[in-house]
Amino acid sequence: MTLDRRSFIRTAGLAAAGAPLLGGSLFAQSAEPSGSDFYELPELPYGYADLEPVIDAQTMEIHHSRHHQGYINGLKAAEEALAAARASEDYGLIQHWSRKLSFHFGGHVLHTLFWQTMAPPDSSGTGGPSGELATAIDRDFGSFDAFRGQFSAAARTVEGSGWALLHYRPQDNRLVVAQAEKQHDLAMWGATPILGIDVWEHAYYLRYQNRRADYVDAWWQVVNWNRVAELYQSARG
Ligand SMILES: [Fe+2]
Repeated sequence: MTLDRRSFIRTAGLAAAGAPLLGGSLFAQSAEPSGSDFYELPELPYGYADLEPVIDAQTMEIHHSRHHQGYINGLKAAEEALAAARASEDYGLIQHWSRKLSFHFGGHVLHTLFWQTMAPPDSSGTGGPSGELATAIDRDFGSFDAFRGQFSAAARTVEGSGWALLHYRPQDNRLVVAQAEKQHDLAMWGATPILGIDVWEHAYYLRYQNRRADYVDAWWQVVNWNRVAELYQSARG
């Protein structure tokens, strides 16, 4: 799926006309617990070229249309295999398919978060956190610069492929920075990710090659703090 500038404007226009908005949820709400919307590749709220020069258009198109779609396909395959296992009462591959379920579910959720919490450089929301989110970052990390330093270090040093994530942790009502390896290892139970940077090589290699640190430094220009603030408020309930 290609979402060019024209279709972005059309989508924005539909939203303004009253089409359902996501609000504080990552996914559009469905009347059914496993509604079909969840298995759809979400449209980007901008065009593939709109994050230039931070992330190039070709990387965005491949990442979104092929990699993210692949995680959705993998999630569906795992769920179908598990349904077949229940039907046949043959659980010989339960470990394999449970691992696939977690990996691909993580890929779908984290990429959906990744797209939504970015915006074109210099657009509304990219100037830094404000309001209650800014206050919480200062409270839990000491300052925005200290938060950014920890988050960037986490992103630079994820072993292999993975993510740096900002979570809201409801157990003690605070924000924490974590790493995730692949899409699911190092999960923090109960915590809700509200910001994440993908540091798999497929996210940056065409433009930055092995210079992951340069990609991490540039990425801060495209963080959509307005969306992060919405997800923070939603996570707090
Ligand atoms: Fe990715």
